[in-house]
Amino acid sequence: MTSKTVAQLLSQDVTLQDVSIKGWVRTFRANRFIALNDGSTINNIQCVVDFENFDEALLKRVTTGAAIHITGELVESQGKGQSVEIVVKTLEVLGDSDPETYPIQPKKHSFEFLRENAHLRTRTNTFSAVMRLRSSLSFAVHKYFNENGFNYMHTPIITGSDAEGAGEMFKVTNLDSKNPPLNEDGSVNYKEDFFGKETNLTVSGQLEAESYAMSLGKVYTFGPTFRAENSNTSRHLAEFWMIEPEVAFMDLAGNMDLAEDFMKSVLSYVLENNKEDLEFLDKRLLDEEKTKPQAERSEMSLIEKIKFVVDNNFKRVSYTEAIDILKNSKPNKKKKFNYIIEEWGADLQSEHERFLVEKHFKCPVILFDYPANIKAFYMRLNEDGKTVRAMDILFPGIGEMVGGSQREERLDVLKEKMKALDISEEELWWYLDLRKYGSAVHSGFGLGFERLVMFATGMGNIRDVIPFPRTPQNAEF
Ligand code: 4AD
Repeated sequence: MTSKTVAQLLSQDVTLQDVSIKGWVRTFRANRFIALNDGSTINNIQCVVDFENFDEALLKRVTTGAAIHITGELVESQGKGQSVEIVVKTLEVLGDSDPETYPIQPKKHSFEFLRENAHLRTRTNTFSAVMRLRSSLSFAVHKYFNENGFNYMHTPIITGSDAEGAGEMFKVTNLDSKNPPLNEDGSVNYKEDFFGKETNLTVSGQLEAESYAMSLGKVYTFGPTFRAENSNTSRHLAEFWMIEPEVAFMDLAGNMDLAEDFMKSVLSYVLENNKEDLEFLDKRLLDEEKTKPQAERSEMSLIEKIKFVVDNNFKRVSYTEAIDILKNSKPNKKKKFNYIIEEWGADLQSEHERFLVEKHFKCPVILFDYPANIKAFYMRLNEDGKTVRAMDILFPGIGEMVGGSQREERLDVLKEKMKALDISEEELWWYLDLRKYGSAVHSGFGLGFERLVMFATGMGNIRDVIPFPRTPQNAEF
């Protein structure tokens, strides 16, 4: 008999049949009721043991966390809480789990404790639900682009260029760190390194994606990116996954439309396909909210928040308008912000972004047309000569979810900008070629996948939405 999953068995209305199932014991109650979970669903299946028919020594091994194989009859449940259950005929322990040392006991564990046991934390309801949602969202990303004529492109992970110009990169080298080859001036001679030049882990696939957009038209990347920024916050990882579409002949307005449509589509997908996990996480968040003072509690539940985003237009506001709003805001006037907004040109801190989305507009906000000097070199300069066609999408509870722009397609303007910022033309010769041969308006954006997963699951710390988080001083597992 082939084994079925718990999800398959629970969705079956045919009972009184012989079934076989393998999974991990969540609880074993009254020497009679085994709650079995195999990861296919948030729900357990109840397996009823008649202890008189089983060896006592065998039943002693049915402990939380043990892997077991059960065969038996699927019947309508006698008890409350489940529609069907299995009357156990045979029981085999595949892998024991010592109750004295097994860390995941059937009780509430703190997220900090579970992070230290990240290899076992998906055996809890919360983390299995989060990771099923993460998987489902990934599928929805590919589905959206596939259905909208995009080509999936794998951009390199090892690169010689710093796409964002922020210099926050991890070096890739196989030189002997104790005794590297040196130039005459004492600097390291990277010509002798593996690639014959300095290389690093990519911070973004954008520059390479632009080259493919300017031939395949519509492309997207979805892969890991790396940033050596020392930000130990609940929203930053050193290794995170980014989704980056890039489209030829599309301007900034088209870019905003694409980003909004894309996010609504993937969120609708999980509303439709991950109901049970979302309902569980919705309840979890509600319980968490109850521990907060009334004033800090969210007005909407998790599912309501997701539906709100799907059903309402994002508010589009220029940077200049946003600065006016912030300058005249209460926390600015009363000097409650850590960084007081005094004049146009200031870079927005997360406290300002949060004020705009959470207090002022109370919905996702697309901020566009930022000052040129606080944004990356590749963004299209506006006719005013001081702003660029950049856009950031800010989400309630998360802050910046998306960063994107229309790209500078004019060779002379791009070269000037690179010169001013001391970016090597020699290094980016191929990027400049795209402006020499058949250049055209094009745009794209980057969406931090973990921030999307945070929003869709209601988890408050980015370390809890990626399997094995990489953060400063931490690369365990
Ligand atoms: O705004 P960023 O830096 O944009 C780019 O990298 C562009 N090249 C994208 C493009 O236009 N193709 O990053 C994009 C998004 C941010 O909005 C944020 O959601 C996420 O990536 N992000 C991070 N997520 C987790 N940890 C970090 N350290 C992140 N840094 C950025």
